[in-house]
Amino acid sequence: MANGPAGKLREQVTETFKIASVMGARPQFVKAAMVSRAFSAQSGVKEILVHTGQHYDREMDQVFFEELRIPKPAYNLGVGSGSHATQTGEMMRRLEEVLEREAPRRVLVYGDTNSTLAGVLVAAKLKIPVDHVEAGLRSFNRAMPEEINRVVADHLASLLFCPTGTAVTNLAHEGLIQGVHQVGDVMYDATLMLAQASQSVDPFLEKMKVAPRDYLLLTLHRAENTERKQDFDRFFNGLGKLGHLILFPVHPRTSAFIKAHDITLPANVRTLPPVSYLQMLQLEKNALAILTDSGGVQKEAFFLQVPCLTLRRETEWVETIEAGWNRLVGLDPDAVEEGLRKHLDGSVRSSCNCFGNGKAAERIVEIETQMVTRESFDESREANAPNADGRSDVAVQCLRP
Ligand code: UD1
Ligand code: UDP
Repeated sequence: MANGPAGKLREQVTETFKIASVMGARPQFVKAAMVSRAFSAQSGVKEILVHTGQHYDREMDQVFFEELRIPKPAYNLGVGSGSHATQTGEMMRRLEEVLEREAPRRVLVYGDTNSTLAGVLVAAKLKIPVDHVEAGLRSFNRAMPEEINRVVADHLASLLFCPTGTAVTNLAHEGLIQGVHQVGDVMYDATLMLAQASQSVDPFLEKMKVAPRDYLLLTLHRAENTERKQDFDRFFNGLGKLGHLILFPVHPRTSAFIKAHDITLPANVRTLPPVSYLQMLQLEKNALAILTDSGGVQKEAFFLQVPCLTLRRETEWVETIEAGWNRLVGLDPDAVEEGLRKHLDGSVRSSCNCFGNGKAAERIVEIETQMVTRESFDESREANAPNADGRSDVAVQCLRP
């Protein structure tokens, strides 16, 4: 940033700019952590972290801030749980006050949760440019709350930071081509940075007394998979017959469902409270295979080259399927059994560089910094020279692909 046209611009603009990052749920802490690190290495920009409070249990929230060294948020809106409208509406009400007070130059939102939706709606209505990290993902299933959140976020965002080429194509099909940047995946940045070191920080497998490849790892939390007891029971009965130890860190939504329906899980399924990010990376890295309905966990399985069965009918992360590391099995126990057998029989798998080079967060921060610097430069030129025709002289790196 110090050199080149943008660096020259930066020298002429001495102001410190505020950019607000809005987050609230577990996967957003992982994504925002990488971006926040990159911001802290960047002079001239002050990042204001706003936590909506969507996730609030220590193991869903605080533990990520500690492990990933995310600075304490300047604001925690303390919204907590509720129906979609109650939760999103309350976030919007509280976030509006914060953004009005802070008047950031831009707002960043991450992924596809209700915190993302609240962030884009509030910022767009306050006429603050809002930029979407992990733009362009589509399941093409509007029954998923996340799909609704993503579509709205992408159509309101000024800058669309896409993790993959597929995401760019999805946006183009919806007519979104302006402000689109294929930067890579910030979760890939995090995995690359921390997977290797995770074991020395906290040797979790030893504590759990399990050996590498001696277990399957399971996560399950999607609304669609925690609604019908019959499907849930059938799935777990199937897991009971697999004959593998299954480690299952349980999301609070799923815990609530198990408790409400008084469900007893099979003896080979060992439940754990939600684990920390570094613990999760170790569980993933050493699993024989992973069963999950999580978006983030599907990707991490791919990054760590562990076979994955996705407990859904579709996925946004099609590259993981195409490369042979992931299979869609839904909650169907027969498909799980068959998918696992095929994976373990050594099916053909390939790798790809489709998630970037581990520097997605740096690229996002570079683009954000260029944007605020350029805007400020343009504003000061406008103020000082009302007839300034020379705008085309301003040497700014083209930000569009
Ligand atoms: C949310 C996201 C989902 C994401 C997931 C990551 C939406 C619509 N969904 O789903 O896209 O994959 O986060 O984990 O935003 N709960 C607690 N403690 C907590 C948090 C939640 O007990 O700290 C329980 C509450 O009973 C709550 C339920 O979990 O009602 C669901 O939480 P919520 O944040 O609404 O959705 P998630 O299922 O976590
Ligand atoms: N994760 C974790 N502990 C757990 C389960 C998940 O640290 O017990 C991490 C996981 O490694 C990934 C992120 O949380 O980085 C994914 O979050 P989640 O599955 O809740 O949401 P999704 O990605 O499906 O939106």
